[in-house]
Amino acid sequence: MLENNKMIRERNSSDTSSQIDQSRKVYIETYGCQMNLADTEIVNGILQKSGYSVNNNIDNSDIILLNTCSVRDHAEAKINQRLNELKRYKQKNPSLLIGVIGCMAERLRTELLDSKKQLDLITGPDEYRNLPRLIENVLETGERGIAVRLSRVETYDDIVPLRKEGISAWLAVMRGCDKFCSFCVVPYTRGRERSRNLGGVVHEVTQLWKDGFKEITLLGQNVNSYRSGENDFADLLRACAIAVPEMRIRFTTSHPQDLSVKLLETIAAHDNICSYIHLPVQSGSNRLLNLMKRSYNIEHYMGLIEKAREIIPDVSLSTDIIAGFPTESEEDHKMTLEVIKEVKYDGAYMFKYSPREHTKAYELKDSVDDEDKTRRLKEIIDLQTQISLERNSAMVGRKYEILIESLSRKSDRMYTGRTDGNKSVIIPVNGFKPGDRIMVKIIKANSATLFGEPVKG
Ligand code: 5AD
Ligand code: SF4
Repeated sequence: MLENNKMIRERNSSDTSSQIDQSRKVYIETYGCQMNLADTEIVNGILQKSGYSVNNNIDNSDIILLNTCSVRDHAEAKINQRLNELKRYKQKNPSLLIGVIGCMAERLRTELLDSKKQLDLITGPDEYRNLPRLIENVLETGERGIAVRLSRVETYDDIVPLRKEGISAWLAVMRGCDKFCSFCVVPYTRGRERSRNLGGVVHEVTQLWKDGFKEITLLGQNVNSYRSGENDFADLLRACAIAVPEMRIRFTTSHPQDLSVKLLETIAAHDNICSYIHLPVQSGSNRLLNLMKRSYNIEHYMGLIEKAREIIPDVSLSTDIIAGFPTESEEDHKMTLEVIKEVKYDGAYMFKYSPREHTKAYELKDSVDDEDKTRRLKEIIDLQTQISLERNSAMVGRKYEILIESLSRKSDRMYTGRTDGNKSVIIPVNGFKPGDRIMVKIIKANSATLFGEPVKG
């Protein structure tokens, strides 16, 4: 990783666009999905190349950027609150520049600039290359800047993301989404699907291994739509797995319409591709899946789960579920609970439906009242928690390989690592170090975490 930084610095020294004061410090706060975490690394890469320095301390920053999420109203409310808090930083330091980047910038555009006087800059997800120019312009003219054009081709393929040193790296292999699920704002905030070149991704994965990373997660809103010439996502996974056989490889997210047998067979064929699939179901009711424009029915979905378990016997499965989509009845809700019981997911991300302007579902009345949404969500969470506990408890007494990631949040005498199936395991430090792959025996489990002790292979 250090080598990577050195490379960027060296390139800076010969870069004519880097005439900015070297001491100008940028601080980025990231909200939302993994794609935003990956984008922040791209933005940091772009800014560092133009002579800015990346700062981990908000208090002495010259520029504060919030990389934002629009997927639910709650996410936007959090950013609005944060922007109000940031006013006091501007009062203390009037030359401070504050910007909103990412999905909320794309969705709200001038509306956001008009309502938040403390904001200097709005930049959408396909305009990050223009950030240095936009910042310079605000600094020179004092005029507030906005750039929100979406692109059909931008993949930031040639940008070297500035990653923190670590064990796991994110790598966006495609951007945008063409699915237009009726509840989802992403196709409007991130634009059309486009993929990075296969060779470029494989090269980056190889470099990441040399930089000391031990695990990568290939990211896309729907990775199964990945295309590079004749190659699909299974070909990309295979190429990465072969190029760096010791690297642990994960990916997210898969849309059930496009998950192919070829992909399942590719996962099964390579030890270093994790046996873990995140396959959002959203609802167990065909009527709602149709209203959600998910383009599959529950029979197709259950068929995929069956195939996944047949081809990858130890596969871990997780999902996304929305409670209280417009017109959802108690019967529809019970169908969702039935699917959860039948699949027995290893984990789930569960949400209350949040109406998003401009989406198809926004035209439907938000008919499920909040009390029912909250209760249904709680029933879904309670059921999944019980299933997670059962599945984790079944692992007690068995041995698994884990990749040690970092000290555990609760104790500096414990490490946290993850199994191939994406389960977190806490183990004693015991002379190991992050990046080690060790065998552990599971000795205790709750619904979220496993506790293990090191054993010989
Ligand atoms: N309301 C609630 N949840 C949503 N998601 C996307 N849009 C909405 C919305 N409007 C959830 C879906 C998706 C996950 C990333 O976020 O479950 O899979
Ligand atoms: Fe949104 Fe559907 Fe695209 Fe996922 S597949 S990002 S839920 S539109």
